Amino acid sequence: MGTQEGLKLVERDESGVDTAFRADVLDGLSQPQKAIPARWLYDDAGSQLFEDITQVPEYYPTRAETEILRERADSFARMITPGAAVVEFGSGSSVKTPLLLSAIEPGAYVPLDIAGDFLRAAAADLARKFPGLPVYPVEADFMRRVELPEEVADMPKLGFFPGSTIGNMVARTAVDLLRNMRKTLGTGARLLIGMDLIKDQAVLKAAYDDAGGVTAQFNHNLARRINRELDADIPLDRLHHEARWNDGFARIEMHLVADADIAFEIDGQRFAMKRGDTIHTENSHKFDRRTANMLLLAGGWEPIERWLDAGERFSLILAEARPTPGAP
Ligand code: AVI
Repeated sequence: MGTQEGLKLVERDESGVDTAFRADVLDGLSQPQKAIPARWLYDDAGSQLFEDITQVPEYYPTRAETEILRERADSFARMITPGAAVVEFGSGSSVKTPLLLSAIEPGAYVPLDIAGDFLRAAAADLARKFPGLPVYPVEADFMRRVELPEEVADMPKLGFFPGSTIGNMVARTAVDLLRNMRKTLGTGARLLIGMDLIKDQAVLKAAYDDAGGVTAQFNHNLARRINRELDADIPLDRLHHEARWNDGFARIEMHLVADADIAFEIDGQRFAMKRGDTIHTENSHKFDRRTANMLLLAGGWEPIERWLDAGERFSLILAEARPTPGAP
């Protein structure tokens, strides 16, 4: 196991609270536009709710991306050299990862994740499905450069970052991540990355505000988590979920909107919201071919192939970390 020993990935205070969570919440709610980084949506309950979201009829991205992986297996096999170490940024999905691994002839599978328990469970599951495929899980924060296991040092590398998770980052963070992926994987590596497409606003809004209210629960769960972990009294019944399309930034935003003037306390600190004020909890950027290419190029990746589902809702892009070209 390639665990980065001695590395402290999560720091907790004496009451067991993640200190970065507390700091982000207190800081984010003190801003004129209240905002909390989206990564805090994913405690155990939030991760389960996200899994539930992927099953609701309105949320198309998971189905569309899975369709591409299933339908384009031949094309992946042609474009991806056999023997590559597939390095997945995140623990891996029980559906998408096997589809990719069955399409190509991988030399090894290296899942990277900060959540060690998920990582080990996903890696064990994968190893069972692909007997004979070496699996080297690495517990690490993939937003930074990661040291890969030496067993894969001489293999060509294929990064895999499905789900359009890149869309949950603002451009600056996305570019930092792409550059670090390039450092992790090395010059000459390839990256297969999922990026959701700009489309009809009604379709987008429904995907992030499903009729069954699962996305609303996912959003509310963040406030519930703050109340539970940070000894807070946010009146959950006075906040409603809203999915907004921000056209200038081509993104869906999730907000918790105050239905009335409210006040609450977190960790002894007082906060107030006027009716209509919001807590911005997530961005989900959408792309077209040009903006996707621009983002990848800014991160050091040259796009070489692009696949869409039949409904042209979602894209999977293959890019390469070419040696830095000279001017112009
Ligand atoms: C994880 N991520 C790609 C999802 C998305 O579509 O942006 C998170 C999500 N938020 C609400 N629904 C799904």
